[in-house]
Amino acid sequence: MFQANLVPMIPRIEKKSFGTTQAGEPVHQFTLTNATGASATLIDYGATLTRLLVPDKNKQMGDVVLGFDDLRSYEDQSPYFGATVGRVANRIAHGLFAVDERRYAVPVNNGPHHLHGGFKGYDKRIWAADTAMAEGPSVRFTLLDPDGTEGYPGNVRVTVIFSLTHDNALKIQYFATTDKPTPINLTNHAYFNLKDGGQSDVLGHILQAHADFYTPADADLIPIGKIATVSGTPFDFTQPKSIGKDLQATDGPPKGYDHNLVLRSHGGSLSPAVTAYEPATGRRLEVWTTEPGVQLYTGNFLNGSIKGRNNSVYQQYHAFCVEAQHYPDSINHPKFPETVLHPGTVYRQITEYRFFVGEK
Ligand code: GLA
Repeated sequence: MFQANLVPMIPRIEKKSFGTTQAGEPVHQFTLTNATGASATLIDYGATLTRLLVPDKNKQMGDVVLGFDDLRSYEDQSPYFGATVGRVANRIAHGLFAVDERRYAVPVNNGPHHLHGGFKGYDKRIWAADTAMAEGPSVRFTLLDPDGTEGYPGNVRVTVIFSLTHDNALKIQYFATTDKPTPINLTNHAYFNLKDGGQSDVLGHILQAHADFYTPADADLIPIGKIATVSGTPFDFTQPKSIGKDLQATDGPPKGYDHNLVLRSHGGSLSPAVTAYEPATGRRLEVWTTEPGVQLYTGNFLNGSIKGRNNSVYQQYHAFCVEAQHYPDSINHPKFPETVLHPGTVYRQITEYRFFVGEK
């Protein structure tokens, strides 16, 4: 913990080693610090956000994401903490889909379903990285995802740029191209806890979502294909309410949110998605995105078996994720927004995590 400097600081980028993977590849850490002293730390393993220090109402900087201090934990036990997730985030039912009448099978790594890109998704690849001062200190990660990797068609080139702006927004820009038609759906899987970075639960955080509909799912969390009103359900966050208020009324096991909210914007333009406010620290997060949906996940699968930074024990509901993305299993639901990228077109999405102090 340190006091935010009242004298503007010079934005800076520090690069250092973050160890070596068990396969012997060197991993680097990049810390982006803006003019107010807020900072974001990322590693090129998984293009992963490992720390995010933003001020509270007393100008105390504190970490608002769950994470580890060592690479080994990211390799062996991370439930996607802060990672860039792809080629297709969330689930593909039974790992089966068709594109232009060609059928594909991708590995099933979550019960009978495919989750977050398979056994070695983008969260477990080493990305190339370079840095620049652009819209604040920035790191650009690039990845070549070769044709056939984890069963997906086409050589896909992905670029993800993280910038920490002068007004405390972490801006994430995604770009991708392909040489064969392929589904693609990228997200960041940051686990937020605006109070203390994950040492206590988030049930008292006040959430509001710009979402009047959601996609009901079956017991395996695969959407059943309906777009249903949130009205009268635990998924109604149209007015601010605490995360804990209706959490026990969700289906389980495990109880909690792990559902796709359909954003009022329907995607395309950068629009407000979700706001979270933490009363004790006064921190407020606004998530803005060009995506049509967000997967709201409340760390239902955390069970205290993972020890994170500062000896934190990450228990159930110690974090919430707002994974801006297309809807789960979109490739098998023609009525959901399209996720197929074609050669000659560029995939572009932007998600911003904007930090403020005070309830609006
Ligand atoms: C997403 C999924 C969840 C879970 C987490 C990671 O939010 O929808 O079911 O897999 O990622 O544990």
